[in-house]
Amino acid sequence: MRIFDLVESQVRSYVRSFPTIFTRAKGAMLYDEQEKEYIDFFAGAGVLNYGHNNPVVSQALIEYIQQDGIIHSLDQATTAKKEFLEALYYDILQPRHMDYKVQFTGPTGTNANETALKLARMVKGRSNVISFTNGFHGLTMGSMAVTGNAFYRDESFINRSNVSFMPFDDYFGEEVNTAQYLRKFLEDGSSGIDLPAAIIMETVQAEGGVNVASKEWLVEIEHICREYDILLIVDDIQVGNGRTGTFFSFEESGIYPDIITMSKSIGGGLPLALVLVRPELDQWKPGEHTGTFRGNNLAFIAAAKLFQYWKTDELAELIKGKEKIMRERLNIISEKYPELNCKVRGKGMIYGLDVAPKGMARQISRECFCRGLLIELAGADNSVLKFLPPLIIEEKLLVRGLDIIEESIVALMEERNNGDGGLGIIDSSQA
Ligand SMILES: Cc1ncc(COP(=O)(O)O)c(C=O)c1O
Repeated sequence: MRIFDLVESQVRSYVRSFPTIFTRAKGAMLYDEQEKEYIDFFAGAGVLNYGHNNPVVSQALIEYIQQDGIIHSLDQATTAKKEFLEALYYDILQPRHMDYKVQFTGPTGTNANETALKLARMVKGRSNVISFTNGFHGLTMGSMAVTGNAFYRDESFINRSNVSFMPFDDYFGEEVNTAQYLRKFLEDGSSGIDLPAAIIMETVQAEGGVNVASKEWLVEIEHICREYDILLIVDDIQVGNGRTGTFFSFEESGIYPDIITMSKSIGGGLPLALVLVRPELDQWKPGEHTGTFRGNNLAFIAAAKLFQYWKTDELAELIKGKEKIMRERLNIISEKYPELNCKVRGKGMIYGLDVAPKGMARQISRECFCRGLLIELAGADNSVLKFLPPLIIEEKLLVRGLDIIEESIVALMEERNNGDGGLGIIDSSQA
């Protein structure tokens, strides 16, 4: 690992959680230079919903390259882009009766959110945007301004002008209806909150600690948007693409966002980001918002192939089965080890195990890594183990990964009982 320490910036992070050199990966498995195997419950922070080197994608990419297909095309028309647009329209949008224009942005999630915020402000002619506590929307200036966690932001390079934060669902516990709270600020002309152009939200806050908004709350937020002429932006970058059990994370709630941002898994591991916009909001002048890397044709090929997963209910059904396995096992762990004071939250195949003792979640993640499982942390204090396996993981690997979690907890507890540290040690480095 010497070259990484010598050359790479201090800012590197995941290499610290998983300190080995990976060489290859397939499905839900990764292998390092020593041929050690790891089960992947991290999935590239939500990029690999369809697994590493999904054969459907790999085959299509090999054929495309062998035919000298166009690789880069800005926003020129190409066969790969045509096929992508057809698949998006016919396989995803039309079956869901969704009428949206698609805008291609620079290829990362934050590019899509910057675009959505800019468009919303432009269309409404208002500067304020409402975002929620614990929301994470990316780390370029505009997206960072709507991101809650102070760790990512220094007042010296950005302030919160043009953004108001409101409490997410359940922020104060069940007693406080935070949608009503938000409504009060909007109806009171003396609240100090300017009428926003948009409200931006995740339906399940992933980086924020796996906080799941209830269906009722989402519907209430949509009502508020309609009542006050505010645009509703759903950031589906991490929890879209099937992560919660449906292609879009909000499908079950029945809400109809004005703008949807997508990235991460949509390109099957290759960079791609999209903004879906209600047609009447598509008020750009030609070329008014550009970006050199809007034409990643390899990602178009991958994405068009992956949309096929949603032509039937098969994947959605498989996700339900795997959700049951995850939820039941995490509930068992939570009950079996009361000293951890765990909370289990999640939907579909994103689950969080919120572990109360400070630094404990990091210790479990480290122990899991030693035992061949990758799992990362989320939440303001990094107290939440975030379960994000590829959607296509085999059940036996999922179960094995959950076994490793429990074995790691047991090992840490034994260490503590033997006086070797383990559970209870406060290790806030990287926490
Ligand atoms: C919900 C959400 N939005 C936006 C982003 C930013 O995406 P990117 O890192 O590709 O800019 C992330 C990244 O984790 C995310 O989880």
